[in-house]
Amino acid sequence: MKNTEILTKLNLEQKCALLSGAGTFTTRGYQKAGVPAITLSDGPNGVRKQAGAADHLGLNPSVPATCFPTAATVACSWDPALGEEIGRAMGEEAAAQEVSVLLGPGLNTKRSPLCGRNFEYFSEDPYLSGKMAAAYVRGIQSEGIAACPKHFAANSQELRRMASDSVLDERTLRELYLTGFEIVVKESAPKTIMSSYNLVNGTYANENAHLLQEILREAWGFAGAVVTDWGGSNDHALGVKNGSTLEMPAPGGDAVRELLAAVQSGKISEADVDARLDELLTLVLDTSAAVQKHSRSFDADAHHALARRAAAESTVLLQNDGILPLAADTKVAILGDFAETPRYQGAGSSAVNSLKVDTVLENLAQSGLQVLGFAPGFDRRGMADAAKEAEAVALAKQADVAVLFLGLDEIKESEGLDRSDMKLADNQIALLKAVQQANPNTVVVLNAGSSLETPWLTHCRAVVYGALGGQAGAGAVLDVLTGKLNPCGKLAETWANRYEDTPAKDNFAGAGRTVQYREGLYVGYRYYQTAGVPVAFPFGHGLSYTNFAYSDLKASAEGVTLTVTNTGDRAGAEIVQLYVAKPDAKIFRPAQELKGFAKVPLRPGESRTVVIPLDDKAFRYWNTQTDRWEIEGGQYELRVGASCADIRLTAAVEVAGTDAPDPYAGKTLPHYKTGSVQNVPDAEWETLLGHAIPQDTIKIDRNMTLGELNHSRSPLGWLIWAVLTALLNASYKKGKPDLNILFQYNMPLRALAKMTGGAISMGMVDGLVMELQGFWIIGLVRVIYEAVKNQILNAQMERRLRGA
Ligand code: BGC
Repeated sequence: MKNTEILTKLNLEQKCALLSGAGTFTTRGYQKAGVPAITLSDGPNGVRKQAGAADHLGLNPSVPATCFPTAATVACSWDPALGEEIGRAMGEEAAAQEVSVLLGPGLNTKRSPLCGRNFEYFSEDPYLSGKMAAAYVRGIQSEGIAACPKHFAANSQELRRMASDSVLDERTLRELYLTGFEIVVKESAPKTIMSSYNLVNGTYANENAHLLQEILREAWGFAGAVVTDWGGSNDHALGVKNGSTLEMPAPGGDAVRELLAAVQSGKISEADVDARLDELLTLVLDTSAAVQKHSRSFDADAHHALARRAAAESTVLLQNDGILPLAADTKVAILGDFAETPRYQGAGSSAVNSLKVDTVLENLAQSGLQVLGFAPGFDRRGMADAAKEAEAVALAKQADVAVLFLGLDEIKESEGLDRSDMKLADNQIALLKAVQQANPNTVVVLNAGSSLETPWLTHCRAVVYGALGGQAGAGAVLDVLTGKLNPCGKLAETWANRYEDTPAKDNFAGAGRTVQYREGLYVGYRYYQTAGVPVAFPFGHGLSYTNFAYSDLKASAEGVTLTVTNTGDRAGAEIVQLYVAKPDAKIFRPAQELKGFAKVPLRPGESRTVVIPLDDKAFRYWNTQTDRWEIEGGQYELRVGASCADIRLTAAVEVAGTDAPDPYAGKTLPHYKTGSVQNVPDAEWETLLGHAIPQDTIKIDRNMTLGELNHSRSPLGWLIWAVLTALLNASYKKGKPDLNILFQYNMPLRALAKMTGGAISMGMVDGLVMELQGFWIIGLVRVIYEAVKNQILNAQMERRLRGA
């Protein structure tokens, strides 16, 4: 224990109290024992410190801060050094605002393009996600404060996010959903980590001994504090026993009494409480000292410039027949609502109150283009508007080139809400077609935080993907259009042709609480390439205004060396990707997997030797029989390419194996052998899982979500459900997500006791559950009795704690 001196000054109640928050974003402190309170703030693409009324959904305003491009955007730079710079700048702003823990980065693996929070996450590939996230953490923590990588783990959808159970086989869990976190923990030593809301194989992530103790703490050596997601604690005592340190936000006295009772009954020991408190005290003392020393100001202009550079380095040129870059003085028509009102970040807890926001319209003067005019062209919320369309078409006719700013509107991508499809709004596609008829020289700029279906590609000559570029993204896109900057970003997720082609289509955000990860290892390019499904734009794809040649590959099991040459007449940077394949594998595996990459800046004509090392993750697979990482021995192909589908050089290397038994011997797994996992039969999925598919029944219990109340046995439940559903539908119509309603809809009843600052106790929730089960009178009496008890006990406890 590092903090024995403080621990000995605290009684058990005080210790238990410290293990949950005091306010929405603050911890409890004890002056007398020398324990300061600290502040935790979102988030992943800029600081969201709420100085006034606080909430965890991005509803109330926060202190202005730099809004950097979101993780999904910066992942396209494939540049950890850039990630580290962004992390450092965010850490600096956080410490300047006296924030001890910055709640990010988010690095969940993008299982489906429809996850509403994909814009907050890096990639469908855990290696790329892990490397980028580790860089952010190093940057943030270089300012002395803590980063909080999230959400650990297997948290890939928003629907029922606080009560859904991610059911997946151990190998998939380890290789796809944990490897990114393993990289972060081992390569950047985060001081905290956030456990996710969901259950993993039947146990809440926040009280999951397998995840938190066996893997995170014992196998990876994580020594920091595990922080619950906001309202994500289910059984606080089990959390503490199994490795979760701090319950957030402010569950009140009930959570303290829960821990006390658990120690008294022997459910957990005082040593468990001490171990967690020691982790928390280390975090609190360490970060508050750093915050105290830190300057209270930062260079906002420098951070704006960094945000712009980050957006530029992350912009992906998806398609170009040579129309780009636009020469100076090209007569352009600027079309599309997004040129005037940019879509530059996502909605929810990550939303930053930006210091300033650049728009394309305001930046045109510096672009060197001759601008004929601007027309919004379409209604942002998808309504047909013939007049707007006609105005845009008329303008397009007069121009040399029509530049059309299209994208997803605010309601499409938000925390708390998964997308319902991968489509661009019909009215935007209609505008594109009409504009292209008027002027074939049509260029599209896209702003969206995740992949889209692109059946409209033939209607434009070039597509620039600016993703969600942060507060300075507009200038970056213009620099790319005009060639002031040569685009070098590459996609960090596959763009499928159609949603129906995606591997998890039938098991993503389904009807029940159980989410079946039936597709196993075959997520993103791992699926498309193994099953031979064509895509619109492959993982790793991105064009440049110059060309690169690859030569002289030398390979060994330790890595590759090659030469990359810029054969064009412009400076540019190439992202070289290294994939590992084992075509003769006995243990089934994806056709190839990313295991290294390097970004290489090159002047025209310049050649460079590029070294891409391989690490311990290059050849390993998780063996469910030996319960450890193993290596299948034999020959592997090392493939070096400009995308996963554009392999330029290949070499074979011999790798020594670990001679482990085949965990799949004698098992029938044809779909997993071929990667055709869209229709895995129940029996085969159960064979992979190693047990029966868990039953998915709606239970009227503490974990029933408000969105499930129509299944309760009480008119009160039906009424709440009807009101919530009506409010939800009304908010969809308004075109802006109502995060409060969304949160409540997906919220389990127990969260009432976790998110109300102590006003509601778990006993009251249990009374409500009785009510919903149909025991109206006993339920009501219990609620009233528990409410009175809660008030009295809370007041007594706060008095005792204040006296401390
Ligand atoms: C989100 C977290 C966030 C927290 C605090 C939760 O709803 O899932 O990512 O850090 O709120 O705002």
